[in-house]
Amino acid sequence: MKVLVTGGMGYIGSHTCIQLLEAGFTPVIFDNLYNSKATVNERIRLVTGQTVEFIQGDIRDKALLVKTLEQHNIDAVIHFAGLKAVGESVEKPLEYYDNNVNGTLVLVDAMRDAGVTRLVFSSSATVYGDPHTVPITEDFPTSATNPYGRSKLMVEECLTDFQLANPDWSITLLRYFNPVGSHPSGQLGEDPQGIPNNLMPFVSQVAVGRREYLSVFGDDYPTPDGTGVRDYIHVMDLADGHIAALQRVGIQSGLHIFNLGTGNGSSVLDMVKAFEQASGKSIAYKIAPRRPGDIAECWADPAKAYAELGWKATRTLQQMTEDTWRWQSENPKGYPE
Ligand code: NAD
Ligand code: UFG
Repeated sequence: MKVLVTGGMGYIGSHTCIQLLEAGFTPVIFDNLYNSKATVNERIRLVTGQTVEFIQGDIRDKALLVKTLEQHNIDAVIHFAGLKAVGESVEKPLEYYDNNVNGTLVLVDAMRDAGVTRLVFSSSATVYGDPHTVPITEDFPTSATNPYGRSKLMVEECLTDFQLANPDWSITLLRYFNPVGSHPSGQLGEDPQGIPNNLMPFVSQVAVGRREYLSVFGDDYPTPDGTGVRDYIHVMDLADGHIAALQRVGIQSGLHIFNLGTGNGSSVLDMVKAFEQASGKSIAYKIAPRRPGDIAECWADPAKAYAELGWKATRTLQQMTEDTWRWQSENPKGYPE
């Protein structure tokens, strides 16, 4: 099966390409390199021994998408491309709606023209807003508190309407919890530009001396140690979840929705401790005020994905932090240009 991977040079997309190759799929990457580097593909080749075709393009370029889908005889699309920084989305809502919502509509339109009817979409646990309880199941109410989250929710709603009108399509919405970790080879990992927004990249940059200390955003949440609790999932487990989705429901028409999480919650301080153990470095931190828009706790009930996809996360917190450290210590400045 040939799979177009939009955003395939990015963090989750690149790891998914590796697992696609391992599972016998042929990925084709479509990415505008807005938040990634083409050298990622070199690393994919180093790890797998296989070369992945890359088309540099924007998902808002319909003509290029149709041409790519047709010329490469694409059977399915995994759609990662988009913007993902919550804070930036508040400053630049138009860019977020244009890339994430408009971009997805252009992609679906192009797929329709090219006769490709299987789509897997990167959604997020952010669509659950501030959940009334945990763990979160797929039938929880959805809401959004910022333009990034709203863009994900809008896309979910557009795709739901579209699938209803086009019942022969297979559309899968994967709601990721908190992806962390790296490929165990140390060749691929998360390479944020500028100051990292997310916890683990920030912690690992403190460990290599790129940042002085971590600000822990709030220690007065109603959680065991007062810091925020999340469901951190190894990016390789997340990648495997896409393979399972393609194999199990990707060829069945319908709308399919799954949480991809571990079902375990860890606090900010749990993550700091786990990282210190994995790296042997001590992580300086200071307690700072809560970050606006943050919730106290969020973790998945991943039972549906296990029941219907036969998938569950297997990698431990220790593997997540060890693999993050291997990537960060061997590539302290991220990918080369
Ligand atoms: P990433 O920024 O590393 O990867 C996204 C890729 O898409 C980048 O390579 C970027 O260059 C590309 N891209 C952006 N806009 C594009 C456009 N208009 N046309 C073509 N390419 C474009 O992000 P990631 O962490 O790998 O996230 C992938 C997807 O998963 C995103 O849709 C994100 O919203 C979603 N997601 C991520 C997280 C997370 O914490 N990383 C959590 C939940 C959901
Ligand atoms: N945190 C800190 N200091 C930091 C960064 C984060 O204390 O420098 C804390 C946060 O307050 C939170 C936890 O670490 O308690 C995790 O924060 P992240 O920013 O890593 O992740 P979030 O859960 O806030 O958000 C992530 C993705 C979003 C996605 C959301 C739900 O970044 O894209 O999960 O899926 F929408």
